[in-house]
Amino acid sequence: MKLLLSAFSFFLAPALAVTANTKDQYHLRDDDHIGPAMWVFGDEGLKIYSPDGKSLRKSTSAERVCHETSGYRGSTEVTLSCSFYDVVSDGKKFVWAAVSRGSSKIDVFSIDTGDIVGSFETCNTPRDLEYHPLRDEMWVRCLGVTENEVSYMDVFSVQSPTVDSTTRILMSDNTTDNSYGYMAIDNTMGDVGYTTMWGSPFLYKIGLSEKVVLEKFDIELAHGGYELAYSPVNQHIFVRALTCCTCGFEGADLGVDCGRYGTELVNITTGPSAGQNNVDGQCGRCDGSVADTLGVYEFDTNAETFVGKHLMEDGLGGDPFASPDGKYIVMFGRNGGRSVRVLEAGNPGKVSTVAFDIKLDFNTTSVEDDAVFNDFAFIQDGEREMIVLASGNENKLVLIDPKSSNPSTSYISFRDGDISSDGTRRQVEWAVGTNYVWVDGADASEVYIIDVGTKQVVETLTNVNSTKMVFVQNYERTRLQNMITGESGFGSDSSSTERAFGANYEDDNDIDAVGIISLILATVALAVGVVNLVVMKNRKPQSHGQPTSSINTSSKMDEEVSLGSKNVA
Ligand SMILES: *[C@@H]1O[C@H](CO)[C@@H](O)[C@H](O)[C@H]1NC(C)=O
Ligand SMILES: *[C@@H]1O[C@H](CO)[C@@H](O)[C@H](O)[C@H]1NC(C)=O
Ligand SMILES: *[C@@H]1O[C@H](CO)[C@@H](O)[C@H](O)[C@H]1NC(C)=O
Ligand SMILES: *[C@@H]1O[C@H](CO)[C@@H](O)[C@H](O)[C@H]1NC(C)=O
Repeated sequence: MKLLLSAFSFFLAPALAVTANTKDQYHLRDDDHIGPAMWVFGDEGLKIYSPDGKSLRKSTSAERVCHETSGYRGSTEVTLSCSFYDVVSDGKKFVWAAVSRGSSKIDVFSIDTGDIVGSFETCNTPRDLEYHPLRDEMWVRCLGVTENEVSYMDVFSVQSPTVDSTTRILMSDNTTDNSYGYMAIDNTMGDVGYTTMWGSPFLYKIGLSEKVVLEKFDIELAHGGYELAYSPVNQHIFVRALTCCTCGFEGADLGVDCGRYGTELVNITTGPSAGQNNVDGQCGRCDGSVADTLGVYEFDTNAETFVGKHLMEDGLGGDPFASPDGKYIVMFGRNGGRSVRVLEAGNPGKVSTVAFDIKLDFNTTSVEDDAVFNDFAFIQDGEREMIVLASGNENKLVLIDPKSSNPSTSYISFRDGDISSDGTRRQVEWAVGTNYVWVDGADASEVYIIDVGTKQVVETLTNVNSTKMVFVQNYERTRLQNMITGESGFGSDSSSTERAFGANYEDDNDIDAVGIISLILATVALAVGVVNLVVMKNRKPQSHGQPTSSINTSSKMDEEVSLGSKNVA
């Protein structure tokens, strides 16, 4: 087969070389291929834009991608729900979207065309998606269960999404309970993963082969566990611990106002009221209160033990988010955005250290005790390393350079006038490999595309109400392109895709169209390598390609290319 293909490729070679020169050579684009692009999901369905936002490559209506749901919170009214809680790409075939509250479907799109491949049955109200490259599986974490499949987690094979396998992963025996929680699933943990449940004080270890809960680890003193961040650097998990607190009376942890959820009788284990039992209060909604003293527990997945915990500078908890390479864990607290804490992952078994606390210059008026960051982007390639945060209380973002010992900050305003964020739900997404960062302003139905090099807004999209923006790139194609342009070490097999996905495409038995094309292209690259090198070395990638410096730093980039601008478990 390989011989045949390489013979074939000699005929194709000249044609392809021409194609690569006359078309968008960097992206291997052709008429039905959308190339690396920002996929914007929301009330209007799916819109796919070029990385600079200047061209709309594809649009699919809400009717085609959202799902009708009824009966949520007792309502019988049927509505189209386009919440798009999580969207994840496998980087080679599909883009997977957890769309609608109250629905048990997951949408799958073609990574190359943006077309919807199908809506597949899964557990109820899918919330969190994680791709496991070695197993080639997409894991789904749901809020509820369905009658057909009593499980809070489900799994799809990326090779054949239509084939459903049965899971029975239950963190609670009472399946009428909602099970808010997140997952950590990664190549470096092998065939186990971890998950949390909002009202349950355990970190659950999941057998990905057995598809059951294997074990659970006590999150001491906590009411539950919630957000998870995972660092492949030390194979540690960072779990946000939730607590109980008093409220509804003078001097209570939360004060006299209990908010919309009212009070129940609770036992307090943390903060100034610790030790009080059967007092008025609430659980799981105490973030930022004086009882929020557990913060983030750090769990060593090798030794299967907690090694320490982390608080914000003010001694209260924060939510953890990992950089794509897992080197940093960024913690957001409830402080209006005054500061963030950045941890640096240490050695396996050792508690991670505080890299720095950074004071930020955001307007905290009327949000002093609120979370204003809900998302961030981590720009990591070649020589650059930058944390990008945008406050939900101001139309401004900050660029933080984490590399120096005294990290510098710079600010970019992207809109005059009213705050355009939909509450604190401001999204930030990096168009990986480019200078463009996308920030949404859903309350004004806007999206801003900011060049972090020139610090200018290059484009403002209007009439786009986004709930999820994800940069999608077919890394398999990019790898081939890089081979042709000789950028990632010509003929070397240390490709970004294999590093990023741990997948070995050559061993793939299922030789599909892409597989065949890749074989052809690989041999073409070898056969006409010299020609390509001569012709293409002079052609620098376009502005929306990887930075030109990548030619010198390709091996570093290979290691750092990831599926996105963050690694939110
Ligand atoms: C299960 O959970 C529901 C809703 O939280 C609750 O009303 C019910 O009493 C629970 N049942 C059991 C057996 O705990
Ligand atoms: C609080 O603690 C008491 C024992 O001191 C126990 O009987 C009760 O069930 C606990 N309440 C809750 C809500 O856990
Ligand atoms: C800060 O935010 C408050 C509340 O949104 C607003 O009234 C005030 O004008 C803002 N201040 C500045 C300097 O932008
Ligand atoms: C955009 O969507 C958000 C969340 O669904 C909503 O709160 C907001 O009002 C919407 N904005 C517009 C202009 O439709």
